[in-house]
Parts: sequence; structure tokens; C-alpha cells
Amino acid sequence: MSETGSLYADLSRYYDQFCADIDYVSQCNFANRAFLLFVDSPTRNYLDLACGTGQHMQQMQAHGYTTTGLDNSAAMLAQAAVRCPTATLQLCDLAEFTQESSFDLITCFLYSIHYSHPTSALQQTLQRAWTALKPGGLLLFNAVDARGIRNDEGVSTTLPDEEANLHFQSAWHYRGDGDVLDLHLRIARQSATDLQQWHDHHTMTALTFPQLQHMLAQCGFVVEMLEHDYSVLRPWDGYSHNVIVAACKPAGANAS
Ligand SMILES: C[S@@+](CC[C@H](N)C(=O)[O-])C[C@H]1O[C@@H](n2cnc3c(N)ncnc32)[C@H](O)[C@@H]1O
Repeated sequence: MSETGSLYADLSRYYDQFCADIDYVSQCNFANRAFLLFVDSPTRNYLDLACGTGQHMQQMQAHGYTTTGLDNSAAMLAQAAVRCPTATLQLCDLAEFTQESSFDLITCFLYSIHYSHPTSALQQTLQRAWTALKPGGLLLFNAVDARGIRNDEGVSTTLPDEEANLHFQSAWHYRGDGDVLDLHLRIARQSATDLQQWHDHHTMTALTFPQLQHMLAQCGFVVEMLEHDYSVLRPWDGYSHNVIVAACKPAGANAS
């Protein structure tokens, strides 16, 4: 198993600083609301896919969930272990986890489901999530429709560090057809005497929402597409190219 680039390996200690603008509290309040709406279970066993440094697990623990985090970066999981010492952590690819009927809720945020590449791996990830959910459980993740990806400069952040300025730029590029979605991460660390630069390239999976809905239905999920707005839980308007997907495993479903 290979790690997914320098940001998630040797730069993992900076990850939380680059994500300082991400509202993990709102995302997890939303996840808890969705859980209460869609799931009828006395237990709260929770798995976060591509958990990174464990920010969602930390918030979900505060909501009373027992947490497991999965990631294919040992360095990111090392950060998660410090943040969430009681969490179970699993070093594993998204398409390879093998739990059965274990979780009431599975999430995958920050578009990380798209890291399953190619499309067959993404289908495998969704199938693994289906198997890992208890009947009646919920898979919640955000996704982007390939037809709405803008090839622009992306998101850029500059952070003062103790001895240097850190500059972080993240941009998607989609060629217009096929399932390859390129993610370019550029990181620079400028001190008084030195400039260090890194460039990560990740190949992610591009797909349309109808393709995604079809893949989820093939697993057996009942799917609700929701607006990509963590402040309010409401149905997708059918137009925007970002959604939050709530995929329910019906209560009567077999685990396999
Ligand atoms: C953008 S970060 C998101 C981390 C976390 N979910 C958050 O919102 O802060 C993506 C994470 O996915 C992990 N990742 C990328 N590809 C993966 C794969 N194929 N299997 C498991 N984890 C993967 C990376 O190591 C990284 O921790």
C-alpha cells in the first residue's frame, strides 16, 4: 500500500493548519442530524472513511458516537491517534475494508470518496460501505458532479508558521471526459533563508450524479440527495454540482 503524497505523509503535521477554515463542527452537527432523521438505532457505532487527522471523529465523539477511522496514510492516522486516543484506527485503502454489519453511520467528507480511483474502485468502496453498515444504517458523504468542475486556480491559503510562511494551493482539473479527476496540491514553505516546495498530484474519480446514483442503487442503497449546505438539511435542488449524499441501507437488508 502506498501513501497518497507528501501532504498526507511528510507534511501531515501541517494538515490541520491548511484546513483551519473548514467548519468541522457544522459538518458533524449535520451528520448527527441526518443520523437522527434517517437511522433508528439504539447504538452509535461510527466509521469515518479517509479520516485524516481525526477532526470528524473528535466532533462525533462529543455527540456520543463510538468511533473508528480509516485512512491509507500512517502519518495522518498518527495525528488522529493523538487527537482521538479512544478511537479504533485502521490503515487501509478505501476500497479494501472488510467489516460486516458493524456500523450505524459511515461518513466520508471533504470529497474524499473521489479518492477511490478508478470508477471500479469507487464502486468497490460503496459496496464495502454497504457491507460494513448494519441494516438500517446510513452512509453520508459529499460529492461533486464532473460536469460542474471548474478548472481554475482553486483554493489558496497562506499561514504564518513559527519560522516560515506556509503557502497551500489546491486545484482540481477535469479534462472534460472520462473518469480521471486531477487534484494538484502545491505547498511552499518560505523561511528567511530557505524555500521548500512540494507538488502533490492525486488521481481522483470523476463521475456524474446519475452515475453515482446508479452505483449506489446497484449496492441496494436508498438514496437521498441533499443540498451541499451543512447549516440546513434539505433536498437537493437538482441543479447544483455539489451534493451531500445520504445513502440508507434498508432495515430489512441482508449484510452481504
Ligand atoms: C482531503 S483529506 C480529508 C481528511 C478528513 N476527512 C478531513 O475532512 O479533514 C483526504 C484523506 O484521504 C486519505 N486517502 C486518500 N486516498 C485514500 C485511499 N485510497 N484510501 C484511504 N484513504 C485515502 C488521505 O490520506 C487523507 O487523509
